[in-house]
Amino acid sequence: MLRFIKIIDNSLKESELFMIDITDRVRNRDLQAKIVTAEEVANWIQPGMTLACSGFTASGYPKAIPMALAERMKKTPFTVNIWTGASTGPELDGVLAEVKGIKQRLPYQTDAKLRPEINDGTVNYLDLHLSESAQLSRVGYLGKIDAAIVEVCAITEEGNLIPTTSLGNAASYVQSADIVIVEVNTTQPLALEGIHDVYIPLDPPNRLPIPIVHADDRVGTTYIPCTPDKIKFIVPCDVKDHTRDLSPIDENSKQMAKFTIEFLHKEIAAGRMPKNLLPLQSGVGNVANAVLEGFVDSDMQDLIVYTEVIQDAMLDLIDAGKLKIASGTAFSPSPAGMDRFYRDVDKYRKKILLRPEEISNSPEIVRRLGVIAMNTALEVDIYGNINSTLVNGTRMMNGIGGSGDFARNAYLTIFYTPSIAKGGKISSVVPMCSHVDHTEHDVDIIITEQGIADLRGKEPRTRALEIINKCAHPDYRPMLLDYYNRALEATHKNNTPHLIDEALSFHSRFLSTGDMHK
Ligand code: COA
Repeated sequence: MLRFIKIIDNSLKESELFMIDITDRVRNRDLQAKIVTAEEVANWIQPGMTLACSGFTASGYPKAIPMALAERMKKTPFTVNIWTGASTGPELDGVLAEVKGIKQRLPYQTDAKLRPEINDGTVNYLDLHLSESAQLSRVGYLGKIDAAIVEVCAITEEGNLIPTTSLGNAASYVQSADIVIVEVNTTQPLALEGIHDVYIPLDPPNRLPIPIVHADDRVGTTYIPCTPDKIKFIVPCDVKDHTRDLSPIDENSKQMAKFTIEFLHKEIAAGRMPKNLLPLQSGVGNVANAVLEGFVDSDMQDLIVYTEVIQDAMLDLIDAGKLKIASGTAFSPSPAGMDRFYRDVDKYRKKILLRPEEISNSPEIVRRLGVIAMNTALEVDIYGNINSTLVNGTRMMNGIGGSGDFARNAYLTIFYTPSIAKGGKISSVVPMCSHVDHTEHDVDIIITEQGIADLRGKEPRTRALEIINKCAHPDYRPMLLDYYNRALEATHKNNTPHLIDEALSFHSRFLSTGDMHK
């Protein structure tokens, strides 16, 4: 059976009517009667509905339906609530933000069009720990899901859903929803079938230990459990994941990667880690990529990755024969990395496993495996508190994402930041963070391009000198030392010396003069 769907291509321009046959991917013949166009689904959606979508980074999110919904909203403005796994691509967050179609958004985003709406009161944004977001959605006070919208490779004879390049919260949303709408994406290869491990824990007080003791343990199903009666609509889609090109690794990131590898070698020599390290978690972006590329060139073998997002560097590690397993919740390489993966899918899929984010980021498992967590901060303070989310304490950048899941529970918690931002007008090392996402109790190591501060086993006053002297930019070091010494004197060497009237003076100076320098 052939159906018609009007799609808009990746460049977001309207294009021709396409015919997409998905009958081979809808393996239950009765379900084929539910195949409709994205416009039909968009017309069914009512103002104020909560749509719980698949997607984590620009991977595995529904595309045809949000694009059709945005077209409808252009003619008849209204809003819906959008829940996902994390950030998504422009065909979901971008198009809906453009028509001001989102009222509530959770649990994470990175969209350049959505960000201003979060910061001007248009969108109510709930910035949640990713590991907790599925459970929070299940217990009910976030509201009720009106429909789960999930991108899949295929639907099985039994009505189960074969996910695509991410799992995120999709399995939990499908479990909670009475109505499931499925986008079958024909650009996603059926070879993805088998790469997923879907395990949904019971909620307290019935929670059992999650039986993962090694990063490659499989404990669930290769599909999202679903039944044909729950599925209301099936929509074909042939829009690719909108993953981003990698930017070249800059000098600061290379330097921070070098510090990391040297430090980890010393940890191995000190007997605090095995030769193949402990499972690695890394945030996304330039520094994370540089660090992982640093492992490709190192003499380390049999590395294990237990993380959120699997990126290009993991493919390099596989090719270099250095990776045992990469477990994550999303596969989100650059477009070139995606082509590379698909060309050699049988080789790569043996080393890659995708789980729901409440498992990839589970505090229980992160603590059990002894993960090395490597994430990026906006700013750090002289005692080791970290701000990852709010510029000048008020303006939302992206959100906490999974950084808190890993930072709080890891064996070793590393935060990175260049020592200055905005051409030197901002010092990333400040007397007191303008907002705290990760407290000094969670942070072991801070790395900037200037150096590495090891905070382990040090009380706050020693930590302050370590951070200022090793990590701050030389332009700001005297100002920070002056602040610290005056705070020490004024408080008569309190445990954590501060000048309360001055603690945020770097920020207030930046807000009034555009520069943190005195
Ligand atoms: N004050 C104000 N702005 C700052 C700043 C500071 N202290 N530090 C950085 N910035 C600005 C930069 O100038 C840049 O702005 P621009 O886009 O206008 O050029 C922007 O913030 C991003 O900085 P950049 O150095 O490019 O960092 P990044 O892309 O590595 O992102 C975070 C850093 C913190 C925003 C990002 O890592 C993040 O969102 N983290 C939270 C979630 C997370 O850790 N996820 C992974 C966990 S599993």
